[in-house]
Amino acid sequence: MLKQEIEDGQAGLADPAFRADVLNGLAARPRAIPARWFYDRRGSELFEDITRLPEYYPTRTETALLERVCPEVARETGTGGAVIEFGSGSSVKTPLLLRAVRPAAYVPIDISGDFLRDSAREIAAQFPVMAVEPVEGDFLKPLKLPAGIGGLARLGFFPGSTIGNMAPVAAVDLLRTMRTSLGEGSSLLIGIDRIKDPAVLVPAYDDAQGVTAAFNLNLLERINAELSGTIPVESFAHVARWNDDRARIEMHLEAQRAVAFEVDGRGFAMAAGETIHTENSHKYGDRDARLLLAAGGWTVTRAWTDEDGLFALYLAEARGMEVAP
Ligand code: TRP
Repeated sequence: MLKQEIEDGQAGLADPAFRADVLNGLAARPRAIPARWFYDRRGSELFEDITRLPEYYPTRTETALLERVCPEVARETGTGGAVIEFGSGSSVKTPLLLRAVRPAAYVPIDISGDFLRDSAREIAAQFPVMAVEPVEGDFLKPLKLPAGIGGLARLGFFPGSTIGNMAPVAAVDLLRTMRTSLGEGSSLLIGIDRIKDPAVLVPAYDDAQGVTAAFNLNLLERINAELSGTIPVESFAHVARWNDDRARIEMHLEAQRAVAFEVDGRGFAMAAGETIHTENSHKYGDRDARLLLAAGGWTVTRAWTDEDGLFALYLAEARGMEVAP
C-alpha cells in the first residue's frame, strides 16, 4: 500500500466533526479547539484521575456537600418523583441523590450511548425498585422525556460545575433548554464552582503530578493518531491561567518554540509562546450564580456551600417567568 493510501485510510476513520473542529480551530485566531474532543478513551481515563487529585477540590467537595444536603433536597421536592440527570450518572454522586430522593424513575441523558447504557445498568442494579429510563441524545437541544414519567414531579440534576465549562451565553441557553425539557413547575439541583483565590484555583487545573497536563496534551496525541497529524507534542506545554476579567480558568497548549506541522494534509505554523485554547472553567460568586440561573428561567429556592465556601449547590424552580414589573 502507498503511504498516502495508509494515511487516507487512517484519516477515513476519523469523525468528520472532529476533523472540521480541529482544522477550523487551528486556522482561527485565537486558535481554539472545543473541549468535547478531550474525551477519547485515554482522555476519559485521565479525567477520572483528575477528579481524585489532591489539588482538584471540586469533586471531593461537591460529593461531601451532596451527602449533607440531599436529605434536605428530598424534603423540598418530596420523594417518588422523577430525577432527570444531564449527563450519565456518575458512580458516586448520583446514588447519593437517589438514595435520599427515592424517585419512582431515573432518566440519565447522554450523547454517548455506550457510556449511558453501562451506567444505567449499574444504577438499575443498585436501585431495583426504581425505573431507569436512559435517553440517548444531546441535552443542549430540547428533549422529549420518556412517556413513562408522565405526571411525576421532575427534578433535574446537573452536578460537576459542568455549566462552568460553557461561556455565559451558552450556559443561559442550556438552562433555558433544560427548563423547556423539564417543564413548568420542575426543579433543578445544580453544582457550581465558586470564585476563590487563584492560588487554590490554578493548581486544581495544573497539578504537581502532571495529570491535567497529560489530559490537555492528549488532545494533540489524538489529533496525530486520528487526523494524520505531525504535531511535535513534546514542544507543547500545558498552561492553566486565571482570567480575572472573565472569572474563569483557561487551559491552553502553548508552543515552546516555533513549530510547523501538518494535520490531515494541511500545514500550520505557530510562533514560540502562541497557544491553542482548549478549555474554560467559569467560576461564579453567589450573586453571579443566582443571576445566571434567573437569566436561564430558574428561581433559586435553596443554596448550600461547604464550610470553606469552595463549591455551591443550588436548588431552583421553574416558576412563571417574570418579564416585567
Ligand atoms: N467541570 C469541571 C471543571 O471545570 C470538570 C472539567 C471539565 C475539567 N473539563 C475539565 C477539569 C478540564 C479539569 C480539566 O472543573
